[in-house]
This record gives sequence, C-alpha cells and structure tokens, in this order.
Amino acid sequence: VNDNALRPKRLGEYIGQEQVRKSLDIFIKAALGRREPLDHVLFHGFPGLGKTTLSYIIANEMGAGIKVTSGPVIEKQGDLAAILTSLQEGDVLFIDEIHRLNHVVEEVLYPAMEDFQLDLIIGQGPGARSIKMDLPRFTLIGATTRTGLLTPPLRDRFGVILRLEFYSPEELVAIVQRSAAILGMTIDPLGALELGRRSRGTPRIANRLLRRVRDFAEVGNHPVVTVEVADAALNMLGVDRFGLDEMDRRIMLTIIDKFQGGPIGLETLATVVCEEKNTLEDVYEPFLIQSGFLKRTPRGRMATVVAYEHFGRKFPRSGTIQP
Ligand code: ADE
Repeated sequence: VNDNALRPKRLGEYIGQEQVRKSLDIFIKAALGRREPLDHVLFHGFPGLGKTTLSYIIANEMGAGIKVTSGPVIEKQGDLAAILTSLQEGDVLFIDEIHRLNHVVEEVLYPAMEDFQLDLIIGQGPGARSIKMDLPRFTLIGATTRTGLLTPPLRDRFGVILRLEFYSPEELVAIVQRSAAILGMTIDPLGALELGRRSRGTPRIANRLLRRVRDFAEVGNHPVVTVEVADAALNMLGVDRFGLDEMDRRIMLTIIDKFQGGPIGLETLATVVCEEKNTLEDVYEPFLIQSGFLKRTPRGRMATVVAYEHFGRKFPRSGTIQP
C-alpha cells in the first residue's frame, strides 16, 4: 500500500478544506454542464495539505487525463512546448512549485493559458522564426506555497485561486481513521485523536506517523492502536505532545538558549540549525507560528512566552527585549 492508495480519488471522499471543496464542487459542476474544461486553478498552501491530491481529484471528477510536472524540471521553452502539445482536449496539466518556473519558460504559458495558443520563437537573429499553433483546451493547475512568489502576470491568468489551510485535529482524526481502514489496522478513537493532535495540522504527516505507529504496534504485538500505544510510538519517534519534532525543537531552543529569545535573522537561524532557508520558511515556521511558539518581527524571529513555557525555560523579565 503506497501513498497514492491513501489519497482520496473523489471530492466526496475528501476530508476537510470545506470552503475549497464547496467551491470546487460548484466550478466542476458548472464546467461539466457547459462541456468546457475547468478554468485554470492555483492552489496555495504549505506542503502536505492536499494540493496534489485535489489536482488528481479534479481530473477524475472532470473525466479528464492529467499530466504532472513541476516548475524546476521544466528548464527550456521547448520542454514546456512538448508537454503542452502532448495534451488531449480537456486534460489537466499540474505544475507543482509553479513559482520556480524559469521566467523565459513562463512566457510560453501566458498565450497557452489565455488563448490555448502555443507561441514560440525558434532560432536567433535573422534566421529566427515564430511558430504559432493551436493547443487543445486544457486546465492548468498550479501549486505554490505562497501566491506572493508568483509573478503578477502569471497569477492574474488563474481564474480560480484557492488557499489550503491547516487541518483541525478532528479532521485529522477522520483522515487517520480512513487511512487506518485502508492499511488494515485497528485504531481506537483516542488513539486516532492522539495522532490527529500530533500531526501539525497536516494529513501527509498524519499518514506518515500512522505508518510508523503501525510498525510499532505490529512489532510490539498490540492488535489495537490505543492512546497508550500511539503515545509510546510517537514519543519514540521524537514527536512531542504538540507534534513538534527534532528540528522544531532545535529551532526553538536555538532561539531561546543561544540568542536569548531573539530577534534572530532567518539567515543566521538557518546556518545554526543546518537547514535550508526556504525549508525553514515553508515547512517549519508556519506551524511554529500558528501554534504560537514563534513570532516573525521586522528585526527577526523571536520565541514567545508559550515557547519558553513549553520548553521549561524561564521567560526573561521585563527590561530585556521581548514581544
Ligand atoms: N488523505 C490525505 N489527505 C486527505 C484528505 N484531505 N481527506 C481524506 N484523505 C486524505
């Protein structure tokens, strides 16, 4: 059973993101009714919240094929032209990390999105020629962490822009129970809640932890994943009560213990914890900020009172710089 087996295939099976689901349901029905492809869709949200899953669901619901690629792998205009000309009428083209598309390549997308036209210049100087071609009507689905990373002309060409949010523990419980059934394991309601609470609001993390909990339960001869089994497994995995992992702790303790609570610049933080700046910003910080441990200020990152309490450190008295 691979990760794809856990992805819902239809909108009706999808749990959470209620606003997004409702909107998509209407847009899909309307497009089907008009026998038109769906307008281009831009998903933005942090990693693991369902952008790829929803793209496959859209193709399924539209009865369309899907081609999947990502911004950084399309290096030249010709690469994108090859993909566009291979599409069938109504197909979905999913471009993950669309903000990392090279700007020269991006320009090929504008007429393709707007008029389903391929517009290329081949060669250079006096021999250069322009090629124009009709493309099948298709739906571009772009995924990015933040819309602000897209150039305005690209962003403006999406008819539908949808933001994915972190999931509530209850939604994650429902996802964990669904996944457990597919994986053939038994998890009781409190066991599922423990996983739901410690998955950082992210289905991808919930499903990953569920697989590791299954290993733990199988080897330890626990036929049912109870809250005790889940807790023991998650502790062994270094996932704390709030779902913070090793890197989260390293980030927070660096700020608290080495930089007196901050402010500390992103660059410095990245160097000290040995992680990519982008990964810190897109993967770790959003959840730490959302949970109230970390604050972004114009002068840098700071640890909050909540963080000091969670890590059992004494919050500095007034007189020191604190939010
Ligand atoms: N698996 C991963 N994400 C899911 C979701 N939002 N709903 C149901 N199953 C999922």
